[in-house]
Amino acid sequence: KNVTSDGVGTAGLDWPNALEQHASRLEAARDAILQRHASGQDPYLGWIDLPDGEVLGEVQALAAQYAGEFDDLVVLGIGGSSLGGLTVLTALQHPYHNLMRERPALRVHFIDNVDGDVITGLLEVLDPARTLVNVISKSGTTTETMAAYLTCKAWLQQHVGEGYARQIIATTDPQKGILRPLAQREGYATLPVPPNVGGRFSVLSAVGLLPAALGGVDVEALLRGARRANEAFRAGAHDNAILQTALVNWLAGEAGRNILVFMPYSTRLRYLSDWFAQLWAESLGKHKPGGGHTGTTPVKAVGTTDQHSQVQLYREGPSDKLVVFVRVDAPDRDARIPNAEPNEPEMNYLADAPYGRLMNAELVATAHALAQAGQMNYTLSLERIDAEQLGHLLQFLMLQTAVVGELLGINAFDQPGVELGKVLTYALMGRPGFDQQREELRAAGVQ
Ligand code: PA5
Repeated sequence: KNVTSDGVGTAGLDWPNALEQHASRLEAARDAILQRHASGQDPYLGWIDLPDGEVLGEVQALAAQYAGEFDDLVVLGIGGSSLGGLTVLTALQHPYHNLMRERPALRVHFIDNVDGDVITGLLEVLDPARTLVNVISKSGTTTETMAAYLTCKAWLQQHVGEGYARQIIATTDPQKGILRPLAQREGYATLPVPPNVGGRFSVLSAVGLLPAALGGVDVEALLRGARRANEAFRAGAHDNAILQTALVNWLAGEAGRNILVFMPYSTRLRYLSDWFAQLWAESLGKHKPGGGHTGTTPVKAVGTTDQHSQVQLYREGPSDKLVVFVRVDAPDRDARIPNAEPNEPEMNYLADAPYGRLMNAELVATAHALAQAGQMNYTLSLERIDAEQLGHLLQFLMLQTAVVGELLGINAFDQPGVELGKVLTYALMGRPGFDQQREELRAAGVQ
């Protein structure tokens, strides 16, 4: 839907006039992105039309080959190499898929930290003969992912012996990094992370699609939704919710609203908040050309749960936030609250109410309470949570982020701050080739 004046929790934003004033600027930002992409030369914009047909075929063939033979998939990756798949599977699988006795697809587990208790704890309960491992690293070198890979490889070797190699799939850059040649030597199946797609934009590449397909997600529907967002992106600013929400975000930042709260009212969309926070923070938190800094700080939240922990601040605290709600119009199940206490009027006002109605009443009530207090907010709506709607929303948010980057005049697609942390970790952990950084850290007293 388009943003309307009553769709933006006011907060001093004169919406119709703001859109009028900035429409041509928004369209120019959109056109600049599309032209760079169409040139085929841009090093970052490959995510706009993911994936190519060949890769989709490979993903589907691998998923078909392994379905039935394995019970569990362990995904090893961090940041952009894990959050997309985690978001998609949490939204689209049965909410308790992994506890089902008759499961329609593999159980998928994400190892995205170097917590030895968690990784060894997971391996303690899995059957090595029925477990696949997908190691995902675009650079093919990230410390956390390599540590997890070493652990899982050793575990498979120990328990299944010679055949371990056919239980590992490596998703990595087609050329760069150590993981690609290693996978070839070992005989692992491999999938590409396109060089012109950054981690946080890779959900619809093999990075997100293989775990999704193995977890039973209709990946073609996911991609159909993304293509619909691409088509909608071409509309003029007055009919283009991607451009309009980019504008609201940009104006909020310019007006000193430095915090962006992202709050889906859905437990199934809880990791969408994590995925979005990474997309936003890594893309827009940058040094400004010519001095200064850009970026509003994303806060991950989930309604209604965080209504009971954070909304007090959002309503009565400083006016330094924009709150974005995500609403699901129709849940999958017609779950209703039973009339189990007919003699308790303080409870039975809920009797027979659909849970979806209660959820959305809470969202509308919170949005209204914020707007009343001059706290800026808007709501993105999904008709339901299915693969096509989710694909549309993911692409919508990536395009929106790219437009805000363009309005800010920064490169939204690199992450020098993250890279520096990786390099310093290599130095501290003794990776060859990082002696100079090790010396510099030692001189600064960091050991
Ligand atoms: O968005 C990004 O670029 C990062 O979050 C990366 O995805 C993350 O650092 C993991 O990198 P890699 O896939 O190279 O292991």
